[in-house]
Amino acid sequence: GREAASGSVLAGRRVLVTAGGTREPLDPVRYLGNRSSGKQGVALARAARAAGAEVTLIGANLQVEPPAGVEHVAVETSEQLHDAVLAARGDADLVIMAAAVADFRPRSLAAHKIKKSEDGTDPVIELTRTPDILAEISAHRARPGQVIVGFAAETGDATHTPLEFARAKLARKGCDALVLNEVTDGAVFGQDSTAVHVVTPDGQVAEASGTKDDVAVFLVGTFARIAASTVG
Ligand code: CTP
Ligand code: CA
Repeated sequence: GREAASGSVLAGRRVLVTAGGTREPLDPVRYLGNRSSGKQGVALARAARAAGAEVTLIGANLQVEPPAGVEHVAVETSEQLHDAVLAARGDADLVIMAAAVADFRPRSLAAHKIKKSEDGTDPVIELTRTPDILAEISAHRARPGQVIVGFAAETGDATHTPLEFARAKLARKGCDALVLNEVTDGAVFGQDSTAVHVVTPDGQVAEASGTKDDVAVFLVGTFARIAASTVG
């Protein structure tokens, strides 16, 4: 069920939120990107602020305005996001990784705009893995008791439900909670409403649906409870 993270459940706490989607440059005018608008992450930053936290929002190409009263750091690439997270996570009690981070980037950045070839051959773009920020900060915590939350958009397949994928991802990433968005039908991206499940290592599953603002309030309340029960 839904409940309000009203008043001050995060008073005196520092919260770091990443939001939006990274862009990986290919040449001076082109990039590989994704469809994340940043709405859910921005709603989380707003809800954390409303719950009394001191909030830093690292925004990757946000398509919505960052909330008032929140420190905003703008980044574009997964590498910039990685560096910004490592720089800002030190004193965070809670890290919320809502950004859609590219898994791959072009191996090289062309110095000049890529032109069509004279002989009509198609170019091939070589990709290389980006660092997994969530796995890295979960494996090497900046401080004891720091609570780290990941997000995953899953569709499921012939043999696994989205929830099964989410549980496996939670274990793989080593974070304290994973928020699952089911993306069957391409829903969620850029929309105002959403439905989520929150999975935690104790096997519990919480669920909520509604506007991204309503869901953000529910999630912040859930994360605050996890933080309150985590020994620092
Ligand atoms: N994430 C991250 N660094 C990356 C990729 C993802 O920190 N290079 C974070 C996202 O911010 C999100 C979580 O990891 O909180 C899960 O992202 P997701 O793309 O679902 O996970 P992946 O491990 O990349 O798995 P998949 O192969 O399903 O994309
Ligand atoms: Ca991914």
